[in-house]
Amino acid sequence: MSKVAASGIQVGNVSTQVVKLNNGQTIPQIALGVYKAPNDGSTENACKWAFDAGYRHIDSAARYMNEEAVGRAVKEWTAATGVPREEIFITSKLWDADHDKAAAAIDDSLKKLQLDYMDLYLIHSPGTMGPEVRLEAWKALEEAVDAGKIKSIGVSNFDVEELDHLLANCRIKPVVNQIESHPFFAHEELREATIARGIHIQAYSPMAQGVALDRPEIKAIATKHGKTPAQILLRWGLQVGNIILPKSLTKHRIESNCQIFDFELDSDDMEILNNLDEGLKVGKLGPKGTSQPASPGGTRPGSRRSSGSGGLSGGKLQMSSS
Ligand SMILES: NC(=O)c1ccc[n+]([C@@H]2O[C@H](COP(=O)([O-])OP(=O)(O)OC[C@H]3O[C@@H](n4cnc5c(N)ncnc54)[C@H](OP(=O)(O)O)[C@@H]3O)[C@@H](O)[C@H]2O)c1
Repeated sequence: MSKVAASGIQVGNVSTQVVKLNNGQTIPQIALGVYKAPNDGSTENACKWAFDAGYRHIDSAARYMNEEAVGRAVKEWTAATGVPREEIFITSKLWDADHDKAAAAIDDSLKKLQLDYMDLYLIHSPGTMGPEVRLEAWKALEEAVDAGKIKSIGVSNFDVEELDHLLANCRIKPVVNQIESHPFFAHEELREATIARGIHIQAYSPMAQGVALDRPEIKAIATKHGKTPAQILLRWGLQVGNIILPKSLTKHRIESNCQIFDFELDSDDMEILNNLDEGLKVGKLGPKGTSQPASPGGTRPGSRRSSGSGGLSGGKLQMSSS
């Protein structure tokens, strides 16, 4: 497993970590994810509880249709606490149907978020419009960086071929590839290939959407460290160098999910967790990956998807059922 350097920082009385991106910008290694969070007070509260708990990073997307709630939370929480907006890291994403109108989509996200700039903006997935339109979208992202509307740009759900096509044609290199990664589906080959290209991994569904928290191996490690199963999965993500994006709208979970900087998994724990990879992909987007156990002949099945669309149908997000 590749590791990346992370630096510890203190946010109020909470210890947390940041990592440095390939453009020199730092990014908090944990974010509150807000997939499936409504555009209302519940998401506003979740963001504010997260900021109170020490998170300084929110992962949203145009497709989540909750940028307004995130923007209200940032505005109200920074006004109430005096913490400058510059200390908060906000991510949004360009949805697939907007690859041919990326500049307008960026302005729309900024307006909904009530921000002058976004810290990070991603192409949400390779989409269905093809590589040339995708490159046009990337050019619009680069121009938004030039205009000061975005600090860093990256991609999500890109496989190696899609990354290399972008790297061969871009002026500004992507800083991250946001993909599914957790012990049950580490996505190791894509992780390694992405990191080898100087691009960080942002791990979505870092708790596998909660579907495997009762596995005995996880519970045993949790008991050993006096932590919850969710904290064990999240700590694994930190230790392999992922930027993790746990989602919750529940106050006590938001708080406990970031209490992961005060303990360390040892090599025995990591070996057990690394051996849990069974290709349990919980999301519908993204490359299928090669995390399935090796077949008796030693090869890994199902490593490539057939097209760049990666689970998209008719330009619509296939919402995961879990
Ligand atoms: N780029 C992409 O294509 C993509 C795709 C998927 C996700 N993402 C990003 O990654 C974020 C996280 O991924 P995710 O939402 O799929 O999965 P996740 O964070 O692994 O899991 C979220 C689920 O776990 C529950 N949960 C949270 N904390 C828990 C705890 N301590 N114990 C037990 N259950 C807990 C949440 O419920 P409650 O809310 O009820 O607490 C929710 O049902 C998303 O919100 C989004 O920002 C990006």
